[in-house]
Amino acid sequence: MKKIAVATVVVFAVMAYSALQGQSQEPNKVSVFMRLKLRHSQKVLEGLVTEDYSMIAKNAQEISLLSLASTWQVLETDEYAKLSGEFRRTADALTKAAKEKNLDEATLKYVDLTMKCVNCHKYVRGVRLTDASTLDTFVTNSMTNTGR
Ligand code: HEC
Repeated sequence: MKKIAVATVVVFAVMAYSALQGQSQEPNKVSVFMRLKLRHSQKVLEGLVTEDYSMIAKNAQEISLLSLASTWQVLETDEYAKLSGEFRRTADALTKAAKEKNLDEATLKYVDLTMKCVNCHKYVRGVRLTDASTLDTFVTNSMTNTGR
């Protein structure tokens, strides 16, 4: 009897939790995931300034792994895949430099990596804008066509 009561409480707790999470669960997942990148890259910077090579290598590796996850594939374009690939190679080069205890090289790769963060974000914003106008043109064209 007690077991059933406990099970009922658990079921309700789970239901309440799912209800609270609501529809915004998906974007939150991407957002939390993407924020991990930021956390790891801040840790790389910390490793660089304190000359902690294992901190640099560990976090650069994590960044590289994140870029392979399905949550990372926000856009399915060739350009996005290319930017992701270049980004991952830079993260790997950073890991390598840290393992070789080459501080100057690791610092250069960190700067390179940061530029790639910014470039991909620029690209993503650009595509979103283009997408909207493409859709507008498409809608306008179909309306014109139906009118004929
Ligand atoms: C290959 C593309 C790409 C690269 C490289 C990249 N990002 Fe992102 N990032 C994205 C996409 C896509 C989003 C989601 C944007 C959206 O949905 O509006 C995002 C979102 C974010 C966010 C916002 C999360 C939120 O709160 O919504 C942060 C922070 C972030 N990235 C940090 C970084 C950092 C730091 C780097 C470099 C170490 C980096 N990103 C490199 C594609 C990239």
